[in-house]
Amino acid sequence: LPNQAQEAATTLRVATEPTFPPFEMKAESGEGLTGFDVDLMRAIGKEAGLNIQFISLPFDGIIPALQSQTVDAAISGMTITAERAQTVDFSRPYFKAGLAIAVRENEEEIQSFEDLANQKIAVQIGTTGARETAKIPGVEISTFDSASLALQELVNGKVNAVVNDAPVTLYAIKQANLRGIKIVGELVTEEYYGIAFPKNSPNVAKINTALATLLENGTYDSIYQTWFAG
Ligand code: ARG
Repeated sequence: LPNQAQEAATTLRVATEPTFPPFEMKAESGEGLTGFDVDLMRAIGKEAGLNIQFISLPFDGIIPALQSQTVDAAISGMTITAERAQTVDFSRPYFKAGLAIAVRENEEEIQSFEDLANQKIAVQIGTTGARETAKIPGVEISTFDSASLALQELVNGKVNAVVNDAPVTLYAIKQANLRGIKIVGELVTEEYYGIAFPKNSPNVAKINTALATLLENGTYDSIYQTWFAG
């Protein structure tokens, strides 16, 4: 018997930090969100019979919100790390990524991770990029609320490099809303994104099953093509 309590029970509150194109960003028209993660999460919801309600949060607020169960899940280009896995549960990996070094086009000195020693670097707060950068000797790190602000700081000449997720930096360069920057060197890390949940959430199994179906039936591929073709 459908009633309000049942409807509430089928809504999944999903946190995201929506300044991370092409994974999550504000739609050009209206209040809504769009992007690879957003499309994937909506498809998962449809498959699993869950109503997806996105909640925008700062990236460093997402894990605390999962811990306090203010949200039921998070999809936010979030890398599965051993440290995070101590406080939240992850779905199976759904995307392979890694960190890339971005510099200005005319930069010649910085060509690898080692060359970042003693440099000024911008990162997004709470990210794996921030974590890796903190290990570099003599660096001066500027922390921003979004990856796009960090990249803008590079364009503006205020820092000499940005360490950020490669697909996001590549997308920013390709979309040419950020001019005059390039990626150098090898990827700094190999990372896998997962959907995060409060510890022991009953939704993990449900969402893994839905994700497996979407990987098999072509839905994942068509969402991938939408955002990463060409
Ligand atoms: N993959 C990186 C991490 O997990 C960066 C994710 C940032 N995501 C975002 N929506 N701002 O730390």
